[in-house]
Amino acid sequence: MTKFEKICKTLDDTQKLAYKFAKLIENDGCFISLYGEIGAGKTAFVKQVAKAIGITEKVTSPSFVILNEYHSAKIPVYHFDLYRLEHEGVKTIFDELQEYSEGKQITFVEWAEFSQNQIPFDHIKINVTYEDDDSRKYSFEGFGEKCNKIIEGLK
Ligand SMILES: Nc1ncnc2c1ncn2[C@@H]1O[C@H](COP(=O)(O)OP(=O)(O)OP(=O)(O)O)[C@@H](O)[C@H]1O
Ligand SMILES: [Mg+2]
Repeated sequence: MTKFEKICKTLDDTQKLAYKFAKLIENDGCFISLYGEIGAGKTAFVKQVAKAIGITEKVTSPSFVILNEYHSAKIPVYHFDLYRLEHEGVKTIFDELQEYSEGKQITFVEWAEFSQNQIPFDHIKINVTYEDDDSRKYSFEGFGEKCNKIIEGLK
């Protein structure tokens, strides 16, 4: 497992990190699970990655709709927010989530902890924590060869 962490003192730093990450995943895609409390900066990161790969639609939080999808860049971006499904609901869609990890697409999943078990396919886990004020820590962990390589690219 490869790890990398970065403290982003401002939203601008988060944008820079997101742009760097976007360059590493924009050709082959990736499945990314995001962890961190409410308001930590999960959606903020997804928004910047989507912008960096050329998504022209407005990226909003999928809290109420579970899934938003964007098709205006060269590969599609899927953005799940499982918060409202909680544990029981997530169980019913977890097999479907696996399909989103295959092929050239980028899939972000917020509140993946509701799945309760380890994600059984290659993915990158991002944990976002509050530091102070506008400062956030983004911690990356890669699972699988391709994902570890992406994280090496962030260093
Ligand atoms: N350095 C920073 N990085 C990311 N976000 C920041 C930073 N500084 C301030 N913010 C602000 O913190 C907020 C993060 O909210 P965001 O919607 O991304 O949280 P979330 O983790 O997706 O929460 P939820 O669980 O409710 O979906 C945004 O308003 C963003 O502008
Ligand atoms: Mg969010």
